[in-house]
Amino acid sequence: MPAIVIIGAQWGDEGKGKATDLLGSRIDYVVKFNGGNNAGHTVVIGNQKYALHLLPSGILTDGVIPVISNGVVIDIEVLFHEIEALVARGVDVSKLRVSANAHVITHYHRTLDKVTERFLGKKQIGTTGRGIGPSYADKINRVGIRIQDLFDENILRQKVEAALDQKNHLLVKVYNRRAISADEIVENLLSYADRLRPMVADTGLELNRALDEGKTVLFEGGQATMLDVDHGTYPFVTSSNSTAGGASTGSGIGPGRITRVIGIVKAYTTRVGAGPFPTELFDESGEFLRSKGFEFGTTTGRPRRTGWYDAPIARYSARINGVTDFVMTKLDVLTGLTTIPVCVAYDIDGVRVEEVPVSQSDFHHAIPIYEEFPGWAEDITGVRKFADLPANAQAYVLAVEKISGSRISAIGVGPGRDAIVVRHDLID
Ligand code: GDP
Ligand code: IMO
Ligand code: MG
Repeated sequence: MPAIVIIGAQWGDEGKGKATDLLGSRIDYVVKFNGGNNAGHTVVIGNQKYALHLLPSGILTDGVIPVISNGVVIDIEVLFHEIEALVARGVDVSKLRVSANAHVITHYHRTLDKVTERFLGKKQIGTTGRGIGPSYADKINRVGIRIQDLFDENILRQKVEAALDQKNHLLVKVYNRRAISADEIVENLLSYADRLRPMVADTGLELNRALDEGKTVLFEGGQATMLDVDHGTYPFVTSSNSTAGGASTGSGIGPGRITRVIGIVKAYTTRVGAGPFPTELFDESGEFLRSKGFEFGTTTGRPRRTGWYDAPIARYSARINGVTDFVMTKLDVLTGLTTIPVCVAYDIDGVRVEEVPVSQSDFHHAIPIYEEFPGWAEDITGVRKFADLPANAQAYVLAVEKISGSRISAIGVGPGRDAIVVRHDLID
């Protein structure tokens, strides 16, 4: 009964769909357990490119049952747009299951996300503006709206009114905005109820039964370790648990059921939005990684910040998530560099520090200590066996593996679905 968790080991956009694709038809269920449409997954299949936000990238694998579980925040309008776009391209989404306990993102969450960011000015987080933080805040404040509330108009109205009561004071008196009408929100949410009803399920029960029956369940994390609300670079984080533990609380399976935790790392590092990033590059090397790696956000189109590989972050991710295997993506992007620096430790106020420091202020001061590895010039996008990689590319992977806290079981060598070199099987 394999329950496999895939998580981002850096700041997101590591290419998490690559590992999903690798598991392919061996998966029975694929579960999105955290986040919402702040996520952006680009998956390339043949000459077709798909951009997914709310649906897990495993939805593109034939025969898989896709699940949006309780830990997700759902913008229902976005969900239906995404479903329609996939159906128009011939993807079967008829088996999609949506948790009755997932929370919704609605108009006032999106509005609050934007106005609070504006209010923060220079101190802003650089959120995706999709209402993620305000929806999770309502969940924790116990004034959230859940999917199941759409099927009881009375309850829905009471809940929306209660939530808006506070928010309209805030919007009008603090942010100088118009009040939002509860009736409009209720009407909008109810308009989706009939279409949504057949998809809604007790997903926790279904997933536990599937595991009991020996099915293979893949939990696909959105965002990443360094964006996790508990373990990331708070406050420059998202508002959910995007680490492996989130797969348990966010779906209703016991933590002991998880058999494998696959951490996805890029062969370098990127970050979107504000916050510390020790290996960030501001020179032509950074531009090289951005243009060669096509580092522009799938969700917002923003240019991603780029930097060299950071081994203390990989070790931190290995520890926080219990990573059993890393999948390293985008090794091909490094092709053509004479030398490749890797951050092996930090200099923090004159002291060599081997691990990610617990103090955020220290992390802001961390200066990377680099070791340099020789590069390679050969095109590696067609390589499918580790032994066929150029000697320096093999040496780079092995050196990075040694200091990253877990083995590197597969290596991405191009954007295509099959552009991967496998060293160890990810299920058995
Ligand atoms: P996610 O958020 O982790 O799902 O990743 P994104 O989709 O936001 O960003 C990853 C990007 O890298 C996508 O455009 C992928 O097509 C691309 N990608 C994934 N693996 C590789 C790889 O090994 N090499 C190259 N060149 N591109 C890759
Ligand atoms: P995937 O799944 C990269 C970042 C935002 C911002 C912070 C908070 O594609 O890896 P939010 O809208 O979540 O409140 O924004 O988190 N962020 C991401 N960065 N990849 C993502 O998802 C992200 N989802 C959120 O840029 O800094
Ligand atoms: Mg992404």
